[in-house]
Amino acid sequence: IADEREPLLDSQENEITSLSSVGQPRVWTATLVVAISVAIIGCSLQFGFQTGCMANTQDTLRSAFKNVSDVEMSLMISGLPIGGLFGGLSAGLIADKIGRKKCMLLNNIPILIGTVLMSVGLNQHLFLVGRILTGFGCGIATGVAPMYISEISPVSVKGAVGVSHQFMITFGILLGFAMSVKQALSWFPKYWHVYFAFPALPAFYQLILLPLCPESPNWLYYNKEREDLARAALTKLRKSRSVADEEVDAMIRERTSASSSDSVMVSYKDFFTNRTLRLTLFIGLALQAAQQLSGVNAILNYGPEILTDAGMKNGDTATGLLGSINVLMTLISIPLMDKMGRRSLMLWGQLFMILSYIGLAIAQRIHDTNPGGEEWTKYVSTATVISFIIFFAIGPGSIPWLIVAEIFTAEARGKASSLCVGANWICNLLVVISYDKLNKALKPNTFFLYMGIVTFFLIFTFFFVPETKKKQVEQINREIQEQAEKFPPVVF
Ligand code: GLC
Repeated sequence: IADEREPLLDSQENEITSLSSVGQPRVWTATLVVAISVAIIGCSLQFGFQTGCMANTQDTLRSAFKNVSDVEMSLMISGLPIGGLFGGLSAGLIADKIGRKKCMLLNNIPILIGTVLMSVGLNQHLFLVGRILTGFGCGIATGVAPMYISEISPVSVKGAVGVSHQFMITFGILLGFAMSVKQALSWFPKYWHVYFAFPALPAFYQLILLPLCPESPNWLYYNKEREDLARAALTKLRKSRSVADEEVDAMIRERTSASSSDSVMVSYKDFFTNRTLRLTLFIGLALQAAQQLSGVNAILNYGPEILTDAGMKNGDTATGLLGSINVLMTLISIPLMDKMGRRSLMLWGQLFMILSYIGLAIAQRIHDTNPGGEEWTKYVSTATVISFIIFFAIGPGSIPWLIVAEIFTAEARGKASSLCVGANWICNLLVVISYDKLNKALKPNTFFLYMGIVTFFLIFTFFFVPETKKKQVEQINREIQEQAEKFPPVVF
């Protein structure tokens, strides 16, 4: 649609900018690209690395620290989601109060203190404190980064930009794995200190470049009520004054039509009393739960065992293979997001994740009852673990992150993001602490359990999740409102 419109010649900047159907530019300016990179390297890559960094390092840490108990070790692993939970719950609130940029900048304080505690590694207790602090930072990062990159991007590329957050997460996970392979860890005895210091690099990248990036125009206009600053930020981002003016005008129109009262910001109570907001929140929460309760982190952690069991030479290769497929498929999903749309990618992804789980559970059951025999079950298990990762990465991995910024209006976005991202971390923690126990109790039936959960969320997505591709938030809200009106009113 965008290309059918006449290009607009911006006389001030002498730059050609083509307009999309909603009058927004389809242009990758240097400022936009740098600002996105600063957010996703400083926040998303950071989170990915912290997710992947404990997979190969547990033995090293056990020998570096004296008498590490199993409880201490599992706390060191779950320290990330424990801290993340608090960070996630506060991210949107902080970002609303002090702005997206300041929130990201200050977030490097807990991350850097945590990094120092983990890399110096005096004992397991300080390491754990460091892990919780970096976890807190990752919680904030997962709330603020998707919000910022969505708010600074033109609507026509919001999908692709949104996936870049997940892309950097998967890349960070892979980096966490790759930098801690056996050869690397045995390279020199103190290497693990250097390894855990790595997260300081993305933190410094962000600290140095973020001050040069523009603040979110949405935050400046809606939260600070500074139309002039919003216009200036957009002019920098779009490199075109006239396009910036158009976008600011759209924000003004949106605000005047959305609110007749003085206070436009949404309160927590509104999420329960306003039908449309309630359903929108429900959709946001369900998608976050769908992402984590699908068991993806269990598959990423335990999948390599299944692959080595099937004959892959060593665990490192298996982990690297799964991590690389995750990165590659997320990359492939970037152009698909604005073509096929979020809803279809979510549904197709979930459908094939269900089929993968069925195959995996059956193969593992046959394998367990007949150890030694039935070679084929190992290959089916490997294929299904790989196909699970492929279809998770194609949609259910990235969509929950990006959709929160798309379905909520600017007035509700901060609080909604805190609730949704907080829910994501609660579910992350649940999976991390329950997987071992579930696996012991249910054996391969654990995969049937996850399959049941994914099926539930597939049905939910089918009935409730609207397509958001290339739509303005008001249109999405109107669709959700129509749906919400079909339900009987709930009185609080
Ligand atoms: C999502 C999840 C994260 C998971 C990753 C795997 O970003 O939030 O927990 O590790 O996907 O790709």
